[in-house]
Amino acid sequence: MTANELRELYLSFYVERRHKIAAAASLVPEDDASVLYTTAGMQPLIPYLLGRKHPNGNRLVNVQRCVRTGDIEEVGDDYHLTVFEMLGNWSLGDYFKEEAISMSFIFLTEKLGIPKDKLAVTVHKGNEKVPVDREAAETWIKMGIDEENIFYYGDEENWWGPAGETGPCGPDSEMFYVNDIPDCNENCGPACSCGKYVELGNNVFMTYNKGKDGSLTVLKQKNIDVGLGFERLLILANGLSNVYETDLFTPIINELEKLTEKKYDETTKNSFRIIAEHIRASVFILADPTKIVPSNSEQGYIVRRLIRRAIRKILQQEISENILPDLATIVIESYKDAYPQVKEREVYIKNELVKEYEKFNRTLKSGLKMADRIIGKLSGDEELNGEDAFKLYDTYGFPLELTVELTEERNKTVDIEGFNKCFKKHQEKSRTSAAGKFKGGLAENNEKSVRLHTATHLLNAGLRHILGDTVYQRGSHINAERLRFDFSFDRKMTKEELLKVESFVNEAINMGIDVEMQKMSVDEAKAIGAIGIFDSKYESEVKVYSIEGYSKEICGGPHVSNTDELGHFKIMKEQSSSAGVRRIKAVIE
Ligand code: ALA
Repeated sequence: MTANELRELYLSFYVERRHKIAAAASLVPEDDASVLYTTAGMQPLIPYLLGRKHPNGNRLVNVQRCVRTGDIEEVGDDYHLTVFEMLGNWSLGDYFKEEAISMSFIFLTEKLGIPKDKLAVTVHKGNEKVPVDREAAETWIKMGIDEENIFYYGDEENWWGPAGETGPCGPDSEMFYVNDIPDCNENCGPACSCGKYVELGNNVFMTYNKGKDGSLTVLKQKNIDVGLGFERLLILANGLSNVYETDLFTPIINELEKLTEKKYDETTKNSFRIIAEHIRASVFILADPTKIVPSNSEQGYIVRRLIRRAIRKILQQEISENILPDLATIVIESYKDAYPQVKEREVYIKNELVKEYEKFNRTLKSGLKMADRIIGKLSGDEELNGEDAFKLYDTYGFPLELTVELTEERNKTVDIEGFNKCFKKHQEKSRTSAAGKFKGGLAENNEKSVRLHTATHLLNAGLRHILGDTVYQRGSHINAERLRFDFSFDRKMTKEELLKVESFVNEAINMGIDVEMQKMSVDEAKAIGAIGIFDSKYESEVKVYSIEGYSKEICGGPHVSNTDELGHFKIMKEQSSSAGVRRIKAVIE
């Protein structure tokens, strides 16, 4: 079964059972600042799990790409991935435990052909809030799971969520594949990481909401949130033993063999797997419509870490040229049918891989030498101190995790706390100087800022009109004096381009056009060419603000009612904001 066939099989299985397909979201959650990336299919559905009506009904299904970097150290084994696809199905106050469990069971055993005696499940053993989950256990038994393959655990193993700091959560029942190996000890079970039990997915009985103060309240509706690991199921559906044997990875491994002129064998296996996994993950992250750029903070740092770790592994294979773009071509080719955005953003993705390689390559050799020297000098159980680790980070661009890896290779450790202290000190310094530059920059929702907001829409449209559709909003900030707009673009704009953008905006202002707002579905917004992040979680109605002939943009408002209220628009500055992102500051006079 190919990857494409498995996605299709899952979706149609649930569609046949009256589920509707919900749009998958972008990799960066829009409303939850407490998480960097989408880590579960349920994340974009949080408002609906909390009770809002979903336009597609109360039975949903989809395939959602997720990023979970917590497992990065495990990458290279048979199953762990930093970016994976989650097959998800949900009941928003509709069916509950019995139906959810039986559908999961039928899908795994009948559709994928996994023998039922190769499955083990866990259920919640109860605590002061919830009783032991007999209903889940009995349903599994009814389906044919042997009682000795049902394991009872507490909150640590069998309570899921919330995804961020707050939100829906509840007791769960996880599903495992049991490998044909003996128990590692008498307490061996699904909670054990010896490799006997491989988690396939989870049925969450999402009935609670966790508040800011940590309290749990019972939700208005009883939800089901099921997530299955797509790549793991693909292994089982094809009788394979690891994810690198699936059609998602074999083309990358083959290309690595070609490029390195080395065989994928016991000596190269671990490096090849890490390179393959990290390049695939990086392509996905870079393909996201939110245009993530490798950097030293937040989402950008994660992708930088992945790329730099891959580069180091490539160098260890004695390859001195940058093979990342060639590998990216392979990833893009194999994913372009399921995820057209990887093909659409091919140029951008490769560009970033080239830039990141060049940046890191410049300092990598001297950094490795420096690391060698300082780690080599450590005596006995002496730790690598925080300042040295920070120096490797700050001067040579070594992600902390790379330094930890290098140190561990020599059986030493890093003073992480010391590193964090240096890091904070450095951050505070740069924050103080930044704060000095933007004194009084707080947003005020007054009349002037409404005008600047409308001007921002015209600027966004003007930039796309003059510089092309690859321009994408990366940030926007308005204060009493000016607007600031960050957008993806690779070079300094010319004077002529700036003038053209300015006249585009002023022309729209001089025409005195009504600003109109319409509510519509995402599909309709798309059809009329409104700007917005479509690969995102817009589900129900969105507001589209139109300035006929100039701009159409999904936005919450508010805006002026006619462009003649804006006055004269003037760009004050165009500068670099971060890698691949330009910043414009402009005023209306
Ligand atoms: N939200 C659940 C998980 O991620 C299904 O495991």
